[in-house]
Amino acid sequence: MHDEAERRARAEATAQPVTTRRAARAAELFDPDAVHARHARPRTWTRAALVAGLAVAAALLVGSSAALTAMVIPPAETVEATMGFTAEPPAVAQLPVPRVEQSPVATDLCAVPDFAAALQSGDDQAAVAAAGGGEAFRAAVVAGSAGCVDLGDSARVWTVVDKLRPASPIDYRPSALVMPEGVRNIDGGALRADAAAALTSLVTAARDAGAGEIGLASAFRSYETQQLTYARHVAVRGQQADQVSARPGHSEHQLGLGVDVVPCAGACGSLDDLAGTAQGQWITEHAWEHGWIVRYVEGATPVTGYLPEPWHLRYVGAELARAYHEGGWRSLEEFFGLPPAPDYAH
Ligand code: DAL
Ligand code: ZN
Repeated sequence: MHDEAERRARAEATAQPVTTRRAARAAELFDPDAVHARHARPRTWTRAALVAGLAVAAALLVGSSAALTAMVIPPAETVEATMGFTAEPPAVAQLPVPRVEQSPVATDLCAVPDFAAALQSGDDQAAVAAAGGGEAFRAAVVAGSAGCVDLGDSARVWTVVDKLRPASPIDYRPSALVMPEGVRNIDGGALRADAAAALTSLVTAARDAGAGEIGLASAFRSYETQQLTYARHVAVRGQQADQVSARPGHSEHQLGLGVDVVPCAGACGSLDDLAGTAQGQWITEHAWEHGWIVRYVEGATPVTGYLPEPWHLRYVGAELARAYHEGGWRSLEEFFGLPPAPDYAH
């Protein structure tokens, strides 16, 4: 595993999110710079009014109603062309009324009653829905218009845990853990109930699609278990362990929201086997449909701090996973506009 991981590490490129048109539109809606661009519009109208005034004055001077009719007020785009001495006469015969646009940035998501109620009751999926979906939720967080959303709250489905953002408290443990049903569970691992149901959904869908069986190799790991896991990696690789294993308090497994999955065909393969199998391919394409993201991908090591792990899935819920997939994001840090976490602070 280590040699392959090192080979991948050498191939790392700087992570850049790829946004789809939908994501870009939403980003624009919540982007303060985009709002500034809108505020710049009155300058265009000032120029339009100037041209209009000159046109009317010219018409009065020649005393011709025909000339007045011809001197119509064009839309802003045509005004720009006219000021560049375009010969074409403008085509619109009335003064346009500038639209007053409401900036979504001004909307405090936390003041939306349905959102506040869902947040208060701990229903994260309902909160994301009340925000207008995963992309709207993300954009509000990034724009700073969702101050009541705490990405550091380990009990929330949107929480971000990485080398700079430990679980809170550091030995956090979910209040309830259950076994996922209908899943080949190699280590007998448990998960939060929502993640367990979503894993059952993923494994069943892969099987139904003919992609084969997906086994669960590792699920919830307590702070104490992660101490042992990390120590084992350190014993083998020294401080290089930090590229493949989280220190206790910094693993998504401790949230009950992270899983390591393997391909099974009779016997189950290893974590490293997954990428080259139909199961691995299916996960890359379809895990998001069941609320999961592949958390550590090729090219994102400078942001996540970890070498690619095609087998490590993180449950974020259906709507956030959809937004993540459709936005072409490669890390939760970038998704939520957080600084990269390539290494620990200490
Ligand atoms: N292997 C991942 C980074 C973990 O230990 O949580
Ligand atoms: Zn993992």
